[in-house]
Order: sequence, then structure tokens, then C-alpha cells
Amino acid sequence: MIATIDPNRLWQSIMDIAEIAPTPEGGSCRLALTPEDAAARALFLRWCQPLGLHHEQDAIGNMFLRRPGTDATAPAVAFGSHLDTVPTGGRFDGIAGVLAGLEVIRALHHAGVPTKAPLELVNWTNEEGSRFRPAMMGSRVAAGELPLDTALATTDDNGISVARALSDTGQAGTLIPAPRDWSAWLELHIEQGPVMEATGAEIGIVVATMHARYFQLTVTGEPSHVGPTEMNRRHDSLAAAAEIVLAVERIALAAEPFGRASTSWIENIPNARGNVPHITRLHCDVRHNKAGEAIAMETSLRRTLSDIAARRGVRIDVDPYATFGPIAFDTKLGALLRAKAADRQLPTRDMIAAAGHDSVLMAPLVPSAMLFVPSVGGITHNPKEYSTKEQIAHGAQVLLDTVLELATA
Ligand code: GLV
Ligand code: MN
Ligand code: MN
Repeated sequence: MIATIDPNRLWQSIMDIAEIAPTPEGGSCRLALTPEDAAARALFLRWCQPLGLHHEQDAIGNMFLRRPGTDATAPAVAFGSHLDTVPTGGRFDGIAGVLAGLEVIRALHHAGVPTKAPLELVNWTNEEGSRFRPAMMGSRVAAGELPLDTALATTDDNGISVARALSDTGQAGTLIPAPRDWSAWLELHIEQGPVMEATGAEIGIVVATMHARYFQLTVTGEPSHVGPTEMNRRHDSLAAAAEIVLAVERIALAAEPFGRASTSWIENIPNARGNVPHITRLHCDVRHNKAGEAIAMETSLRRTLSDIAARRGVRIDVDPYATFGPIAFDTKLGALLRAKAADRQLPTRDMIAAAGHDSVLMAPLVPSAMLFVPSVGGITHNPKEYSTKEQIAHGAQVLLDTVLELATA
């Protein structure tokens, strides 16, 4: 029997899971380790059950679904992505990768095709980092890049810790997070950009990722009254933060076309009408194709921060708490993906990922590769995010063909 992706079954699963915490504009909002995330995980597990997969979960909530191979001693071929979303999530970011992986196993199951090596389908915890920082938390912990205790103690904007969220949602597994016995790691993901659509590529072979540097900034000024306090006596943390936001944008504009920099989160204290704010926290990141350029962007940002701090009489503390990349993915696996796409007459294009992905954490540990499917209009982290049924099915078929070759060799 030849194992073939069922485009309708895959599409229906993506649409069904999107109905968990749907947003009015057609997307989903399932922040990591919320009851909504837990409900999506439970539905995913329900789908895995009839396939006879063995579920293991580690202490950071990563889920591993194992299909045995005929050679129990062979290392597994692993693949997957994430089911959590950003607040303005679409239906595809991460989800397409997990459910394409599920469809790979469904197709093998229904065709009665065994593999020599076991297969492992993975849902990583908190890839997005919207609620708990840093992004790619589950894979960072599994890779040993972030201590489990540090991750567990991290709190969200309401003071709820990862440990508490894991236990409240029943997602704290018993395994100690650690690298697993895998021969290869593969992740299908939507492109999240306009390049493949514009160039007619059906399969993106992700050869590398950008280098990104994340910062939490704390601007500390002086509390005062918005009336009596003359302008020249103020140390307004929010006004300083406003300058920082624009400076970050300027740094990115100067680094185009390969540089990006953003301020994406803000907390303002006391955030009270009538008060000149005295503590403002910001989350920023700088990223670039070339690591050296990203570091130069950071240097430029730090220089600007010193200038703003001196001029306004505020303190600015920089916590450079995480980075990712640059990663070059495994060239042999990339070539295999390219060959499998060619076998299916699907045009490919080599791509560099600008977003963070769990694969970045796997790449130093195990031969790893990513494949992209096109994103209509390049729209992402937006309820309008869209890839067609055919585009996703094509990607899933290339994933299946690649997994089969790796797991039967
Ligand atoms: C996370 O996905 C990022 O790109 O920062
Ligand atoms: Mn993603
Ligand atoms: Mn995302």
C-alpha cells in the first residue's frame, strides 16, 4: 500500500481545532498553558488514540506521541510543531505542523504501512512566548538551554507561574525534559511571509534562520503629579519609553532589508490617570540574517538607551534574556526534502526563517530541517492568516515521503 495524505482529513482537523477558543475574526486565541491550550491538547490526544500512539509528557508539558517501529532499538524519526497561539492567532501557525504530522501517521496507519524506526510526533509547550517568556520555552528546556526551574518560576502578567499553569491545566508530565533518542527532526510550518506566493514556490526548504536577540527593558523614573510637577522636574518613564520605541523602529529601518526590530510588549506603572509614570517595562527584539549585524543593532540600541537615560534622568536596565539562531539546518535533510518535493513536481525555494521555531533548538542536537508551505499574502499572527488545503496537503505529502524514507532506510 502507498501511504497518501488525505487533504480533506488534514484540513478538517485544522478547522476543528480552530474552533477551540475561536476569535470573532476567524482565528484562535490559545495562549500557552491556558484552559484553551489544554482543550486543544486534549482534542489532539483524542485523535491520536485510535492510532495506537504511546503518549509521554515531560515536566514542561511537551507532548511526545510515539508510533513503534519494527526495530525497537532504532532511534525515532521525530516531527511536529506547536498548538499554542498568540492572542491574535490564525489557524495555521504551529498547528499546521502538528496536524500535518498527525496526518502522516494517520496515512501510514490507514495504509497499514509499518516503519523500521519508530516515529515521534511532538507538540512543544509555549512556542509563542506571548504569555510566558521566552518563546520556544518547551524546546529550550528540553534542549538544556533553559533550566527547568527557571522556566517553571517564570510568571505571566498576572503573576501566575509556569509551574502553576502546568499543574492547573494537567500538563505537568513526569519525564525529566531532555534530548530524546532521535535520528532526525522535521518541522512543517507556514512561511509567514509573502516570498513563496510571489515566486510560485510550493515547498520552502528552510536552510537557515535569522539571529534574534530578546531584551526586557526597565525604565525607572520618579513618581510625580501631572499638574504641579513642572516639565523640567519630571523623570517620566513612559515618555522615555516612547523614545525607545521609535529608536527601535529606526534601528530596524536602517538595517533593511534583512534587519527587523520591534517593541512588542509594554507595562506601565502605576498606569494611573494623574500620575507621571515612573516604571515602564518594554519587550524588544532585534534580528538579522547575519549574526554580526544583529549584534551591531543591539550595540546601536544600547548607545541610544544611554543617551535617553542621561538626557531624561531615568535609569534603563537591560535584561538580554534570550536569543535564537542563527542556525543552518542539516544540508542532507534539506536535499532530501528538495528531492521529495521534486518527485511530486512541487517547485521549491530555499528560505531563511525570520520567526523563531522549535527547530532552532533541535538543530544543534539532531540533524534537523524545516519545510514551509506558502502563506497567502504573507499574513501571519493575524486571524486572516491562510494557506490553502492544497498547499498544506502538498507540504504534508513531502513530509510523509521524507519521514518514510528516513524511517525505512
Ligand atoms: C518567536 O516565534 C519569535 O520569532 O520571536
Ligand atoms: Mn510557529
Ligand atoms: Mn507564531
